[in-house]
Amino acid sequence: MISLGHIRIRDRSSVYDARGKIRGLADALGYDRIVATRLATAVSEAVRELLGSGGEARIAVALEPSPGRLVLDFQTRGAMPHLAALAGFFDGLTQRPAQDGFAGLRGSLRLPAPAFEATDAFIAEQRARVTALSREELISEIQRKNRELEQHSAALEETVAQRTEQLKRAMEAAEDASRAKSGFLANMSHELRTPMNAIIGYSEMLMEDAEDEGNEEAAGDLKKIHAAGNHLLALINDVLDLSKIEAGRMDLYLEEFEIPAMVGEVVTTIDALVKKNDNTLQVEVDPSLGGMRADVTKVRQALFNLLSNAAKFTHEGEIRLVVAAEAVEGADGVRMAVSDSGIGIPPEKIDHVFEEFSQADETTTRDYGGTGLGLPISRRFCQMMGGDITVESTVGQGSTFTIRLPLQVESVAEPEQPVAAPHPEPDEERVVLVVDDDPNALDLLGRTLQVAGVRVVTATGVRRWTWRAPCGRRPSPWTC
Ligand SMILES: Nc1ncnc2c1ncn2[C@@H]1O[C@H](COP(=O)(O)OP(=O)(O)OP(=O)(O)O)[C@@H](O)[C@H]1O
Ligand SMILES: [Mg+2]
Repeated sequence: MISLGHIRIRDRSSVYDARGKIRGLADALGYDRIVATRLATAVSEAVRELLGSGGEARIAVALEPSPGRLVLDFQTRGAMPHLAALAGFFDGLTQRPAQDGFAGLRGSLRLPAPAFEATDAFIAEQRARVTALSREELISEIQRKNRELEQHSAALEETVAQRTEQLKRAMEAAEDASRAKSGFLANMSHELRTPMNAIIGYSEMLMEDAEDEGNEEAAGDLKKIHAAGNHLLALINDVLDLSKIEAGRMDLYLEEFEIPAMVGEVVTTIDALVKKNDNTLQVEVDPSLGGMRADVTKVRQALFNLLSNAAKFTHEGEIRLVVAAEAVEGADGVRMAVSDSGIGIPPEKIDHVFEEFSQADETTTRDYGGTGLGLPISRRFCQMMGGDITVESTVGQGSTFTIRLPLQVESVAEPEQPVAAPHPEPDEERVVLVVDDDPNALDLLGRTLQVAGVRVVTATGVRRWTWRAPCGRRPSPWTC
């Protein structure tokens, strides 16, 4: 027996569904039109009766190749109706014992001659016909799928909303933590710098004493302490600068200054570093460039960083500094390009050189030192002033780092009033009042100033700021 599957009987639409399927099958099996029509009508009548049986119903369709017969099992889980429509039409009509809870009535009808050819393709085609979903079944299946989809999408929306909320909370927590860290470091500025200044200051004084006494061994050791102290202070300054920028507490102090003079100062400062690796430095400053308004300390620091990197990563090579006028975002501006013929930066690393603590190569720290803070800080400074730093580089050939800044930097923060330095009258006693909460700092500054020949008065807090000089004058504040 070759099973062709079941025709499900679910509702009134099953009558037409069963009729159409049996009609198509009968045609395919070669019954003449009259027999095919009668068969389809008998089956649809039987379906109508099965619908009233009160239980799940179906028609199992099969082919018996020898002798060739079409076999239809009318099955129901309810009470088997009489199925009068089938009587007298089928060659044989027999009761079938209950199977899987279905009671059945089997009708078989001889196949027309010549018998169909039961190829795999033919059987597959008839099986597809019998088991195909009816239009109504298709619609209800689509509706069921739609409902499922709606439920899924509602669940998905809910999950996405939950995740978004979780991410938002995690991001807020991370931002809070980052702000707290930056705030803490920015506040620690004073606490970290003061002892470092004490180490540097005292070692400098002791170094001079040791040199005066001709104690070269002690002088050498003190020199190392002094150099290490300076290195650590530079590092602390970098980390603090970064924290201040991140905490939004880095202010701009805008002032007018001459570009050629500023460039000249930086070039003089960098000279020793350039020579250290047997490099040469060529400087070209556009003669048409005059003054600009910006935070000169930050411009100087950024330019110094680029030149010190060029000097550090180049050996027996050439460094060029070209300073020229160039518009920045439509406004008058200046471009300061530092090119070198040094080691260059690999393309896959170039995007990372402006990230904090990022060095192009793991070996950089070992071979060249540094912490990877120079460029990120310099770039943030330039961005604060409405400019930027860009880079182009080829491994083994060299790099060009370019600062671009507007000539008139807009103020983003209230500039602090410039602090007036004390100008003692030439004939008066020169008195300096030193205020600091750290006794070491007071002592150190006091001793250094005494060497410079001034009278020093110290105080550990601003409450004592009522001090007046014997002449009755109050000193002007000079902060550091
Ligand atoms: N002129 C250059 N040539 C080749 N590589 C460079 C050059 N300038 C920067 N780099 C690469 O970019 C990295 C980051 O530079 P950055 O100035 O931020 O840090 P650093 O010089 O290593 O340390 P720091 O400046 O904090 O002392 C360097 O470590 C180096 O790998
Ligand atoms: Mg650097």
